[in-house]
Amino acid sequence: MRLLFLGDIVGKPGRNLVCQSVRRLVDEKTLDWVIVNAENSAGGSGLTPANYKQLIDAGIDGITLGDHIYRRREIATVLQRRENIVKPANFPAEAPGREFMLLAGRNPEERIAVFSLLGRQFMRPTDCPWKAAERVLAQIPDDVKAIFVDFHAEATSEKQIMARYLDGRVTAVLGTHTHVPTADECILPGGTAFQCDLGMCGPYESIIGRRIDRVTETTISFNPTPFDVATGDVRLCGAIVDFNLSTGQATGIERLRVDAPL
Ligand SMILES: [Fe+2]
Ligand SMILES: [Fe+2]
Repeated sequence: MRLLFLGDIVGKPGRNLVCQSVRRLVDEKTLDWVIVNAENSAGGSGLTPANYKQLIDAGIDGITLGDHIYRRREIATVLQRRENIVKPANFPAEAPGREFMLLAGRNPEERIAVFSLLGRQFMRPTDCPWKAAERVLAQIPDDVKAIFVDFHAEATSEKQIMARYLDGRVTAVLGTHTHVPTADECILPGGTAFQCDLGMCGPYESIIGRRIDRVTETTISFNPTPFDVATGDVRLCGAIVDFNLSTGQATGIERLRVDAPL
């Protein structure tokens, strides 16, 4: 089985490239599932119900989010009602959304589980991601062996700790949030695929997706400017994981980068 996990979608450029590319990639790469972190879809922050629909209609199977999850409050209803979108599992129980999702393949008996966790280094404080991982793993049905974890975190070391902690118990730990892809994709000794950060689906002629001039000006002078989403060098970034559905073990991981036509 093959699954493509895409990093944070940033704004309209990222959304459009993902939507234009999904069905072609599914055919070309013989993908069984495509998951995306969509936390920056709406103008660079959050996800609207219309963005959600656009992504699902384009062929995305499941959506994870991150620290910007509730920037568009109207997404709360979608998070509560839909079964193919999750909140970070270490958010409070009262926060809108489910902790994990089960996604069927073309054959409804072929199911995978997906959940996400927020890191705690250089991030807003959240509940313990390790305890949350244990709680979610205990709830996933026994017959579902293939489990994908989006670890939305800033620090590479924290991501490595999570990957080692879950090695052999999940199919993949894939990092998001930094918007910069890392070149460390590997299969850990226990059979878990890992990459510190998938990178973003959005404009790379930017500072992590935003206009260079604006971010630079504000960083140096503290003079506030609108951090508009950039437009140049749009790329889609993620990783393709090959795995055994009956054991849940990963057998391969490959970085994927698709550049938008000029
Ligand atoms: Fe992000
Ligand atoms: Fe984030």
